[in-house]
Amino acid sequence: MLKVEELKVSYGRVSAIKGISLEVQENEVVFLIGPNGAGKSTLLKTISGLQRPEAGSIAFENAAISGQAPEEICRRGLVLVPEGRHIFGTLSVAENLSLGTTIRDDRQQIRADLDEVLTLFPILRERYSSTAVYLSGGEQQQLAIARAILQKPRLMMIDEPSLGLAPLVIDQVYDALRKLNAKGMTLLVIEQSTARVADLASRVYVMRNGRIVLHETKASLGDGTALTEAYFGDAGHAAEQRVH
Ligand SMILES: Nc1ncnc2c1ncn2[C@@H]1O[C@H](COP(=O)(O)OP(=O)(O)OP(=O)(O)O)[C@@H](O)[C@H]1O
Ligand SMILES: [Mg+2]
Repeated sequence: MLKVEELKVSYGRVSAIKGISLEVQENEVVFLIGPNGAGKSTLLKTISGLQRPEAGSIAFENAAISGQAPEEICRRGLVLVPEGRHIFGTLSVAENLSLGTTIRDDRQQIRADLDEVLTLFPILRERYSSTAVYLSGGEQQQLAIARAILQKPRLMMIDEPSLGLAPLVIDQVYDALRKLNAKGMTLLVIEQSTARVADLASRVYVMRNGRIVLHETKASLGDGTALTEAYFGDAGHAAEQRVH
């Protein structure tokens, strides 16, 4: 469904991605984990068309998308929930959600989809008219995912959904992700830790310093213990030291 080959991305003289190849197949949940500064967000931004690659190719559903405008990539069904959520604090929950539908013209279906996301995230129905800045971090994360769902993704990429959230709230977010996947949505999830990987991943890539250093499939993953040891064995320091 998504195929990235030999991708390189730089910010001026800083090389952030040094030749990455990965793939996501239809209906998979693929995790990409790695410590601070590994290049995870840069990779998602580049796939989304927000950053230009220096070399390599990106194909989505067999179409070359690298170099296309972000709106076009989004219209194809490849949608990003960005790092830091990018909620508009001065707007209401309702208004933030309506921003997810600006590229659509199927009014009737939008109403039905809106009802569905409010059922998936009941707290957003309760806070529907509230100003988004007053939402908790967990509520804002749910709002960011809900807004992305309204863009009708076939593949949703989520940049660190558990960042700064309490374990119970992370459970809620992951419950929603599991339900979305069960309904047929393909997911590419970025995290800094391996905590949520074992029970949901079809495949996991570990990224460090602009490169993929480990690739495990569901079969090789087991209960995730070996992965956690491999990851925290030498990269753990950086991950643990991160202050949210
Ligand atoms: N806009 C930018 N300009 C210059 N350098 C950047 C920019 N954004 C990121 N970088 C650099 O690119 C590298 C990769 O950053 P990136 O944000 O992709 O990492 P990350 O894996 O998402 O990290 P984190 O877990 O902290 O979010 C880092 O060295 C970072 O300093
Ligand atoms: Mg990042």
